[in-house]
Amino acid sequence: MTVDALAGAAYIAAALLFILSLAGLSRHESARAGVVYGIVGMTIALGATLALTVADAWGGSGATLGLSLLAVGVLVGAAIGLWRAKVVKMTEMPQLIALLHSFVGLAAVLVGWNGHLSHASIPAELVDIHNAEVFIGIFIGGVTFTGSIVAYLKLSARMSSRPLVLPGKNLLNVGALIAFVVLTVWFVLDQQLWLLVAVTLLSFALGWHLVASIGGGDMPVVVSMLNSYSGWAAAAAGFLLNNDLLIVTGALVGSSGAYLSYIMCKAMNRSFLSVIAGGFGITASASDDVDHGEHRELNAEAAASLLSQAQSVVITPGYGMAVAQAQYPVADLVAKLRERGVDVRFGIHPVAGRLPGHMNVLLAEAKVPYDIVLGMDEINDDLASTSVVLVIGANDTVNPAAAEDPGSPIAGMPVLRVWEAENVIVFKRSMAAGYAGVQNPLFFRENAQMLFGDAKERVEDIIRAL
Ligand code: TAP
Repeated sequence: MTVDALAGAAYIAAALLFILSLAGLSRHESARAGVVYGIVGMTIALGATLALTVADAWGGSGATLGLSLLAVGVLVGAAIGLWRAKVVKMTEMPQLIALLHSFVGLAAVLVGWNGHLSHASIPAELVDIHNAEVFIGIFIGGVTFTGSIVAYLKLSARMSSRPLVLPGKNLLNVGALIAFVVLTVWFVLDQQLWLLVAVTLLSFALGWHLVASIGGGDMPVVVSMLNSYSGWAAAAAGFLLNNDLLIVTGALVGSSGAYLSYIMCKAMNRSFLSVIAGGFGITASASDDVDHGEHRELNAEAAASLLSQAQSVVITPGYGMAVAQAQYPVADLVAKLRERGVDVRFGIHPVAGRLPGHMNVLLAEAKVPYDIVLGMDEINDDLASTSVVLVIGANDTVNPAAAEDPGSPIAGMPVLRVWEAENVIVFKRSMAAGYAGVQNPLFFRENAQMLFGDAKERVEDIIRAL
């Protein structure tokens, strides 16, 4: 059997494993198996690609130099990747993922340019298709590249999370798309190099503008949308490189990312089209200088005493729990309260934290039983009859302004209605706003009290006091 045929069979096996992996990852119970399928699939894919590359190059002129350069590139890249993955904090994962998406985009741009410059022999009847692939690949890759860099800058707070509102921004986006279609047709008819330069610059500018126009609260959708774009960019590169597995994998990532963006948009009551069109229809938000009155504070002992009298407790964790790594003492606190017969449950907002499923991962890590971890829709109606809600490092996801203030930048986003509970204890370090940069009127409600300090330390204090 030839190496080509073997690699073809390996690619089919890898593609099936990737599909099984996605299916596994969609449920808690099967997530581990999903990860294993993914690792096995990727190992097979890498092995097959390596065998194909070596077989193709073997004996040709410059093969030793080419293969050695490839080996050095793979080793250096893998070493940097391993090092970064080892040192990255869980809370910095979203920006790392955004940065990795930008590499996929840049790779697609380079593959596109290479597809044009390498003058590979292409059958005459496929030349037009090849040229269109080059152009489309560069465009999708370019949008993904700069869009992901802006997402990286916003997520790592190196750039303001406020939406950029340029005059006529919707026209700019639509104009860029029309220009892209015109340039593609032009390039298919006449392959001038300046057209490739133009589409590269156009896609860079559009990617930058699309993501810069999105406000902080909508960033989760943008990250999954860029994930989707990176999939399509990989699929486009797959067509150019004539690699079936890259096409299949790219399409899997592209479509699952698009579906995730759609689900998130629904969960956050946002228009899918408005988000993929770079905040289409969003205007600058009103300033947030309302006087909300005074907030009240309590200490860990008072919180422990409230909890010891409670019949039911709901914990709504957010990004601050991840920063403080408070999930372990939180799990201990839950076990202690359950021993005393208190009904304790978690309410998880779909975009709490900085990654889809961020809170679920942390709670699973701390061995909190799955059956007391409920989604926002499952818990919201029970909050009014809850004795104490512990808001641990959450802010935007429990902000009543989203439900009550139509002028708020997060208006319309469904939130956990924690303010309906008898008592609310908010764990945070200051009165600072959350990710969307919006003040939270919850902190000033009659039934809410602030427990200031690092969430982990404060939960440990409560456990001691209990
Ligand atoms: P956020 O609104 O981000 O607020 C987190 C709060 O945690 C902050 O107000 C902060 O207040 C507090 N905090 C930080 N470190 C802490 C520590 N060590 N101890 C105690 N508190 C600490 O949280 P959220 O409710 O989870 O909302 C998530 C936001 O991120 C949403 O706007 C969402 O759209 C956005 N986002 C989500 C995702 C995904 S996919 N989940 C991705 C990107 C963006 P202090 O500074 O005062 O302590």
